[in-house]
Amino acid sequence: MAEKNSDFEPNIVAFLCNWCSYAGADLAGTSRIQYPSNVRVIRVMCSGRVNPLFVMNALQQGADGVLISGCHPGDCHYMQGNYYARRRFMLMRNFLEYLGVEPERVRMSWVSASEGAKWKEVIEEVVSGVKSVGPMNKFQRRQLNW
Ligand code: FES
Repeated sequence: MAEKNSDFEPNIVAFLCNWCSYAGADLAGTSRIQYPSNVRVIRVMCSGRVNPLFVMNALQQGADGVLISGCHPGDCHYMQGNYYARRRFMLMRNFLEYLGVEPERVRMSWVSASEGAKWKEVIEEVVSGVKSVGPMNKFQRRQLNW
């Protein structure tokens, strides 16, 4: 059972596609929309670029949750990248659940460049979902003393 405390502030790693979700997050910032500061953004050219190992590495290296966000279906600048990302995400989430990782920790969303307000909602949902399951402590790499 995950330990929970009310002061827990999760670390969220967000992989955002350059053309839509990154621009949407940027719009939220330039519009001065307040959203939780728990998220660390990694910009990728397309959500289809996100390898499941990126997610595993983030969880191993201290992330409590991971968000992948890209253009809406049909709007991907590389035609089908987000469709590949969606399929990969479903498989990966099932696999992570099999390993004991709560589904609240990994999330996928579609946020366009004009959806700064939606970006705020997505981040709030992700943060509250991860808070509900507590800190991630399943994949922490052992510190080796040489
Ligand atoms: Fe945004 Fe492919 S370019 S998801």
